[in-house]
Amino acid sequence: MEIGIAADHGGFELKQFLKAYLTENGHHITDFGAYTLDNQDDYPDFVIPLAQAVAGKELDRGIAVCGSGVGASVAANKVTGVRAALINDHFSAHQGVEDDDINLLCLGGRVTGNMAAKELVDAFLQAKFTEAERHMRRLGKVKALEK
Ligand code: RB5
Repeated sequence: MEIGIAADHGGFELKQFLKAYLTENGHHITDFGAYTLDNQDDYPDFVIPLAQAVAGKELDRGIAVCGSGVGASVAANKVTGVRAALINDHFSAHQGVEDDDINLLCLGGRVTGNMAAKELVDAFLQAKFTEAERHMRRLGKVKALEK
């Protein structure tokens, strides 16, 4: 899959770990930064370009990491066409795609450990939107806000 990844200083270490893991597993990764650990950097500078690439369909999915994952999800969801969610559990990692068609996973680098993050990312990437009528209907009501 074409996957984009981004993080500020709070998510930097987890991003580096996930980037290596996903590359080893055959995905093509575009890294939107940060490229070095800078405790003064700001998550919108990395997350918004990632979200724009997801919205522009340059990527199949995006992964954004900040300290908690909260700021990343707030910023990403401002970009039209992005459905981002902060995920801390396995069920939501796949159900968020299956029912809600999320296209950008947000994680907290200060919350989620590397091994748990790997499992959340795997569940997110393997899941597919079901396109069930009720989910399409609900998504249509959400997408109407973007017009
Ligand atoms: C940065 O220190 C921290 O506030 C940021 O990574 C994130 O947790 C925001 O939601």
